[in-house]
Amino acid sequence: MVAVREPRSVSSPALTDRFGRRHRSLRVSVTDRCNLRCRYCMPAEGMTWLRRDELATDEELVRLTAVLVSLGVSDIRITGGEPLVRAGITDILARLRALPGVAEISMTTNGVLLAEHLDALVEAGLDRLNVSVDSLDPGRFAQITRRNDLTRVLEGLAACERHVALRPIKVNAVVLRGLSEPDVLPLARLARDRPYVVRFIESMPIDAGRTWSSEQVVPGEELRRMIGATWPLREVPRTRPSAPGRRWRFGDGRGELEFVSSVSEPFCASCDRLRLTADGRLRACLFATSETDLLTPLRAGANDAQLTALIAETVDGKGPGHGIGTPGWSYDGRPMSMIGG
Ligand code: 5AD
Ligand code: SF4
Repeated sequence: MVAVREPRSVSSPALTDRFGRRHRSLRVSVTDRCNLRCRYCMPAEGMTWLRRDELATDEELVRLTAVLVSLGVSDIRITGGEPLVRAGITDILARLRALPGVAEISMTTNGVLLAEHLDALVEAGLDRLNVSVDSLDPGRFAQITRRNDLTRVLEGLAACERHVALRPIKVNAVVLRGLSEPDVLPLARLARDRPYVVRFIESMPIDAGRTWSSEQVVPGEELRRMIGATWPLREVPRTRPSAPGRRWRFGDGRGELEFVSSVSEPFCASCDRLRLTADGRLRACLFATSETDLLTPLRAGANDAQLTALIAETVDGKGPGHGIGTPGWSYDGRPMSMIGG
């Protein structure tokens, strides 16, 4: 069955930036914590987490999201950290899904806790799901994530297959040079054999441990050559210009891949995303070095008009692009797990 989507709401001037980009997608990070320690994201130990009183409560998250939705956000993605480690996540999802104007709600999860939560999440209105799986080899999965949870993740994916309405299920794989090469073909094969779109993501310099180097990046084009030697690929024309992934189908029509090449082929010009962090700050770009605290004003009694003014100012300050890889580029903002990927 084809899901009938509500028409996308028209973004208000508050969500249109100086480059004419209208922001309709919001990523809501519900926690900075995680039950894995992926090496491109976090150090093995020594992470400091937000204190409970620094985290937006359920009520506060819903209120801030509601203001953004009233201004034209129509697609919400729940992220973390790992969203399923937040208590009450199903209830949060249901409340966000019920906001008038929300056309779609999705989640990005590492899948470890998915099998036990999935039915309730679907019941609460989950429309789409991305599950991160960087390797199908238990040893390498543990090397990348520093935990032995591949079996649980695969059980989570199997549970997704029973919910036909969630299809296509997206599998996110971050590729690291010198480590992930043996995983590329087995992951691509998954997109041929199962109802998944496998997305190969270039590693980005936004890890808490600051260990990124451009040598780690395997450009999407190189991956397509690797995969194309076994299974020829052809590009699928874009239907949603703001989608970060370029889509490719296998020549024989059996499945689809995406390449999220943030570093080698930036897609900033069509970006329609904003990010709300778990401590109630709004970021206009993953790589922005500044963010706007909405939680403190909210707690001090700000009304919707005052929050809207802060939101408009943040969107207005959004830069044209990230500049990763250009000489002198550096990032001194907060890591991905705090911002929401
Ligand atoms: N570079 C690229 N992708 C990353 N993710 C987390 N950290 C990084 C990084 N440094 C991915 C996760 C997940 C999504 C939220 O972002 O693997 O799929
Ligand atoms: Fe956790 Fe995601 Fe970071 Fe891995 S990438 S440690 S799953 S937040």
